[in-house]
Amino acid sequence: MKNSSRGVVDPFIVMDVMEEARVAEAEGRHIIHMEVGQPSTAAPAQARAKLGATMEHDPLGYSVALGLPALRARIAQHYADKHGVTVSPERIIITPGSSGAFILAFTALFDAGAKVGIGEPGYPSYRQILKALNVTPVGLQTTLENRFQPVPTDFVGQGLDGLLVASPANPSGTMLTAEAMQALIDACKAEGVSFISDEIYQGVEYEGRAVSALELSDDVYVINSFSKYFSMTGWRVGWMVVPDDHIRLIERLAQNMFICAPHASQVAALAAMDSADELEGNLEVYKRNRAMMIEELPKAGLSNFAPPDGAFYIYIDVSHMTDDSRKLASDILHKAGVAVTPGMDFDPVRGHQTLRLSYARSSEDITEGLSRLKAYFKGS
Ligand SMILES: Cc1ncc(COP(=O)(O)O)c(C=O)c1O
Repeated sequence: MKNSSRGVVDPFIVMDVMEEARVAEAEGRHIIHMEVGQPSTAAPAQARAKLGATMEHDPLGYSVALGLPALRARIAQHYADKHGVTVSPERIIITPGSSGAFILAFTALFDAGAKVGIGEPGYPSYRQILKALNVTPVGLQTTLENRFQPVPTDFVGQGLDGLLVASPANPSGTMLTAEAMQALIDACKAEGVSFISDEIYQGVEYEGRAVSALELSDDVYVINSFSKYFSMTGWRVGWMVVPDDHIRLIERLAQNMFICAPHASQVAALAAMDSADELEGNLEVYKRNRAMMIEELPKAGLSNFAPPDGAFYIYIDVSHMTDDSRKLASDILHKAGVAVTPGMDFDPVRGHQTLRLSYARSSEDITEGLSRLKAYFKGS
C-alpha cells in the first residue's frame, strides 16, 4: 500500500540503544541503564490507592474532552502556589501526555508549510511530529555559552511562524532565566511568532527555580506532563495552558483527535498532585545522582558539559574522542555494560560528537555506572 511522504519520520535512536541493551541482557549481561529518560519509581502511592478505590464504583468512561474539572482546578492552584500567577482552570487542557499536547498545539497553531524553530540539541520528537504534520522544523544551533538555549538572534528575521523552547531542557538539563525567556517572548511577539514553552521537567530542578512562561505572558502555549516529576510516564497524562481565545479551538480538536485523556490516569494524576513528600523524596535521589555525575564524570575524561539546572540528564561533548557517537555508545554498551544515548537524536548536525547520560535510576545504579565508565575510559 502507498504511504504518505510526511509520515516517513526518523526513528528514535534511543529505542535502538534500548533494544541493543535488551539483547545484551537476554544473553546474561548486567547492564546499567543510563539511556532511559524516565524515573524508575512508580506513580505515587496515593495516586495508585485513589485509582484502586475509584475503580470500584466508577465506570471510568470518557471524561469531557478538556479533562476532569477537578484536575484542571488543581493545576490552576499549582500555578498560584508555585509560580504566583492566576490562571483560570478553563485555560488548562488535560492531554494524553505532553506528546498529545504537541499534536494539539501544532495543529491549532500552524498550517502546512509553516516554519517552527526548535533549539538544537533538543527533544527529537518535536522535529518528527512537526514533519508528520507537514510543518517545517527549523533547527536553531545553540551554544554551550548560551547554555544550549536559543536566543533572539538565532531566529529573528528568519520568517518563523513558531518557536518551541524547553526549560529545563532535554538533553542539556539547562533552564531559561526569566530575563532570557522574556527576551524570547518579546522577540516572538515583535515578529508575530507563536511561542510554545515545554515545561515538562519542571519540578525536577536543582539550581534556582524554573520559571513558567505563564509568569511572563498570557499569550503563550505552555505544555507540561505528569511523566517526569510525578513519575507517571506510562499513564499518558499531561496538560497544556492556552490563551483564552484558543480554548474552543483546542476543545474541538481534542474532541475529535483523542476524545479525552485516559480517565483512570486523570484520577491518579489528581491524587499525585498531593503527594509532595514522596515526590520530593524522588527528587533527593536525583540530586544525589547529579552531584555524583558532576564529580565523577571528569575523572573518566568526560568534562565538557554544562552542569544541568534541572531534568535528569547530562549532555557531554565527546568530540575529542570520536565523531561517531553511535559507535562509541555501542562500544561502551558491549565493553562496559553501560547503555548511553548517542547525541544524533537531539542534534542532527553535532550529535555525532555528543552523548546523553541519564541519572534517573537509583543511586546504586549510578554509582556502579560511573565506576564502569571510569574503568572503560581509562582503558580506552
Ligand atoms: C523535553 C520533552 N518533552 C516531552 C516529552 C514527552 O513526554 P510525555 O509525552 O511522556 O509527557 C519528553 C519525553 O521524554 C521530553 O523529554
